[in-house]
Amino acid sequence: MRLTAVVLAAGHGTRMKSALPKVLHPLAGQPLVHFAVTAAAAVTGQPPVLVVGHGAEQVKAFLGDRARYVTQTQQLGTGHAVLQARDLLAGWADAILVSYADMPLLTEHTLRAMVDGYRQGRGVLSFLTVIAQDPRGFGRVVRDAAGQPQCVVEEASCTPEQLAIRELNAGVYCFNADWLWENLTRLSPSPKGEYYLTDMVGLAVSQGQRATAVQTADESELVGVNTRVHLAEAEQILRARINRHWMEAGVTLLDPATTYIEPSVTIGPDTIILPNTLLTGRTAIGVHCRIGPNSVVEDSQLGNHCLVVMSVLEGAVMEDEASIGPFGHLRKGARLCRSAHMGNFGELKNATLGPGSKMGHFSYLGDAAVGANVNIGAGTITCNFDGARKHTTVIEDDVFVGSDTLLVAPLHIGLGAKTGAGSVVTHDVPAGTLVYGVPARVRRRPGED
Ligand code: UD1
Ligand code: CA
Repeated sequence: MRLTAVVLAAGHGTRMKSALPKVLHPLAGQPLVHFAVTAAAAVTGQPPVLVVGHGAEQVKAFLGDRARYVTQTQQLGTGHAVLQARDLLAGWADAILVSYADMPLLTEHTLRAMVDGYRQGRGVLSFLTVIAQDPRGFGRVVRDAAGQPQCVVEEASCTPEQLAIRELNAGVYCFNADWLWENLTRLSPSPKGEYYLTDMVGLAVSQGQRATAVQTADESELVGVNTRVHLAEAEQILRARINRHWMEAGVTLLDPATTYIEPSVTIGPDTIILPNTLLTGRTAIGVHCRIGPNSVVEDSQLGNHCLVVMSVLEGAVMEDEASIGPFGHLRKGARLCRSAHMGNFGELKNATLGPGSKMGHFSYLGDAAVGANVNIGAGTITCNFDGARKHTTVIEDDVFVGSDTLLVAPLHIGLGAKTGAGSVVTHDVPAGTLVYGVPARVRRRPGED
């Protein structure tokens, strides 16, 4: 069976009250539409057809070739939206899976169950339903006395008896393609002038065809994001799912309620995450690390046995047993090599602190390469920017940089050299020498000249 998915994303999203198209609002760091497209592609093995309208250019710019696109210029309803894909798909698919881009929590598993339901039902369509106490404005599923689904009625059109129905239309369907393309044009407009995809259920039944309802027990998958309140609800559910996954994989979360882990992050077992911690982007964390509390780790790679206390990491690397904090900041291109330590109020930008090196207090290193076993004294600063260009500082192994040293780049400090407290170093420092003063000069021993 050739299966293709159509994902609807043309709606205005008026209730978000936003300049940003609804489906581009971020959920766990990814635009909403990412989730429906990912799930649809996983089930069908090919990029879905996305029906775009409002914000079409922005949506396309984000997804690129992860989807194929058709445009719905006027938003005349979900049935009309699916019809826009007909020319592209007619003859190319046997079954069409339809889902909505504003339902990010639907899992691949549920979509598969929908396709199985369609196959086993031997009718012209299957649709997903859920029994829920809060009807959320969803369409109601009307069944006949024998329990067969008859139709879906939108809340606005429900009779009082229908309003009391608690089986809701989730908004996911699997259609026989030929039947779908032939019958979509038979829909009649709603009182609001919209063509409802949901009316396909009643249409099938009126033709003596079977519509199979696939019931799901997991209400949490069906959160449709129409407002920012729904968005926060979806965020909470997704976060709980992700947190549970990592706990089951051997990671301790001291307080899952204040732990934020994006889906793209990976964490090794026996790592402990303390409260108020955000792990985002392409972050990978090894085993036996301790992160937090109050830390942000974005797009960073951490080895094993690392320690991060109340610190912020962006695009950084920490090798095994490196530690930072409290109150450290690693910016893009920062690297703490094995067992390196950075203490409070330090910042590294495009800089490496070599194996076993220490930078304990109040220091900034930018565009710098620091070797092994170097001590960076309190208050050390690389003056790497001359107002126009950035310059590099190289500090060789075993150097001792005295407190409050200013390193005016470009600069090279040789193996085992030392700088005195308060020096302003403007010239390269030869290996094994001590420089001090403003500007710093090499200290000569008596008898030397
Ligand atoms: C829809 C269903 C309802 C179901 C609910 C579940 C219909 C008529 N109603 O209602 O039975 O319980 O979802 O979440 O289908 N869209 C377009 N073009 C349009 C209209 C909508 O692309 O002309 C897209 C929207 O961008 C959205 C999706 O279709 O992604 C659903 O539209 P929405 O207006 O949110 O429908 P609901 O009122 O939520
Ligand atoms: Ca919706």
